[in-house]
Amino acid sequence: MSLRSALNIPASQITDETVYRERRRLLGALTLSPALALSGCAEAEPPPPPAGRPLSPEQARAGFRTDEPLTRFEDVTTYNNFYEFGTDKSDPSSAAKTLRTRPWTVAVGGACAKPGRFGLEELIKGLAPQERVYRLRCVEGWSMVIPWLGVPLADVLKRFEPTSKAKYVAFTTLADRKQMPGIAYPSIDWPYREGLRIDEAMHPLTLLATGLYGKPLPQQNGAPLRLVVPWKYGFKSIKSIVAITFVEHRPMTSWNDLQPSEYGFFSNVNPNVDHPRWSQKTERRIAGTGSKLFAERIPTRLFNGYGEQVAGLYAGMNLRTWF
Ligand code: MTE
Repeated sequence: MSLRSALNIPASQITDETVYRERRRLLGALTLSPALALSGCAEAEPPPPPAGRPLSPEQARAGFRTDEPLTRFEDVTTYNNFYEFGTDKSDPSSAAKTLRTRPWTVAVGGACAKPGRFGLEELIKGLAPQERVYRLRCVEGWSMVIPWLGVPLADVLKRFEPTSKAKYVAFTTLADRKQMPGIAYPSIDWPYREGLRIDEAMHPLTLLATGLYGKPLPQQNGAPLRLVVPWKYGFKSIKSIVAITFVEHRPMTSWNDLQPSEYGFFSNVNPNVDHPRWSQKTERRIAGTGSKLFAERIPTRLFNGYGEQVAGLYAGMNLRTWF
């Protein structure tokens, strides 16, 4: 039984109600009016950042774990966003059970010397899974603390020898109508797509997660392979990845494509830049006990508290312009 049905709470009351209604209203409006989706003109690409200070191994490791209380396993695995399986928080945990995650192939291509199609095992062969305890901050205003298992994305990407043209990395989720009931609704231009600048992708905090709480990743959390970028809003952490492509120009990304004025390409967590329709100054931490889902509201931190590790990536960039 899902957490929501166990507590008998409608999803609309769990997520901030305004945010819940607004994000879904947007999806509904776009479904009815594709023209709206096209209304945002493409932003220019930001200038390349000046070379940031290199991160010392100690600084990097300092971001690898937080001592904050973990969000309960049952909340991490029943309060999800995975629109391929529905838009309610409880939909993925019930509908994604049947997603087949083996065999799983990832196509790697674009600007690299060694492209190809790789089985999951081959893709991460020889890389020992590491535990990372990261905060996850959703753009909707809730957050969790999750113990992930995974491998640094940089260690995987280096295997394909990206060329000097690889300025960005694009990621694509599986879009299988037979396995994913949400694909029937053209709310998003499926497949779900995300992207990072190459220096963000190569950053030591960026993880390709294969598990959580010491177990293989549950389907609803993006099995068998998902991205985790802890200083960015959760929608950048794309699930169930089937393609990784090195590209020269900023790739199309799903939420930015849906509404560019509301969901930027960078989407770094930033309490000083509100979403046009709600504040990003605070968040509701999902760290409840007993039947309580949310703990108290807490202040949201710039770069989700990972500024020491990542601020250098954005030196010289106006974070309001490049939100
Ligand atoms: N990836 C895909 N393919 N589809 C999605 O709908 N939702 C994103 C992100 N990755 C999403 C996705 C959003 S909005 C968030 S907040 C996180 O996944 C949620 O991850 P979780 O369900 O594991 O907490």
